[in-house]
Amino acid sequence: MTTANPRAAFFDAEAAAPWAAAPYGAEHAPKLERFFARTGPLAGRTLLEPGCGTGRLTEILARAVGEEGAVHACDISPRMCAAAMERVADLPQATVSLAAMERLPLAPGCVDLVVCHQVFPHYEDKAAALACMARALRPGGALLVMHFRERAAINDVHRKAGTVVEHDMLPDLETMDALLTGTGLRRIYFADDDTLGYLLHAVK
Ligand SMILES: C[S@@+](CC[C@H](N)C(=O)[O-])C[C@H]1O[C@@H](n2cnc3c(N)ncnc32)[C@H](O)[C@@H]1O
Repeated sequence: MTTANPRAAFFDAEAAAPWAAAPYGAEHAPKLERFFARTGPLAGRTLLEPGCGTGRLTEILARAVGEEGAVHACDISPRMCAAAMERVADLPQATVSLAAMERLPLAPGCVDLVVCHQVFPHYEDKAAALACMARALRPGGALLVMHFRERAAINDVHRKAGTVVEHDMLPDLETMDALLTGTGLRRIYFADDDTLGYLLHAVK
């Protein structure tokens, strides 16, 4: 992966921006609480976090799975990856790869939970990305798609960005359901509101 990829170059340039690098604040606590209510206990679990950015959630997930678990994080942006690697340097259960979700080499069925945090709109081929996630999940494993803001607000920001992400949209629920079904996943929970943002939970 090189920054010749325009989307990777865009996110490289954003790696030090407050939205990407600033520590989570008190306003994020209830959103993470709702997320962890869906994941259940994570100790010893194997997680996949495609599009980890600077690793803010990666660090939290790595502490949650503990040394008996694993978090496989990846990102297409070298600078995002470098920041994430630095953040989890003392957490050996976390690995960060410079790779697109669609091309991450993972054994089939090796993952308990996939966490897509604020990245789903950015997958160029959403069906292909979901197919790779579904393949990596064990039967009964889960996918959580989370955004700290509601879908309409996210899509509005991207639409008005005037950059490489301006067409990166979070699909409507009907389209998401069709994408999930097409890869053997089934939605079991969905919430989208301007207080806690977007959370979709599907299982294999
Ligand atoms: C909006 S940022 C979110 C980063 C992080 N999850 C967070 O919430 O701070 C989206 C990230 O996804 C990465 N990304 C975009 N397309 C990707 C893909 N196909 N595979 C892996 N990462 C990707 C970008 O480089 C960027 O770091």
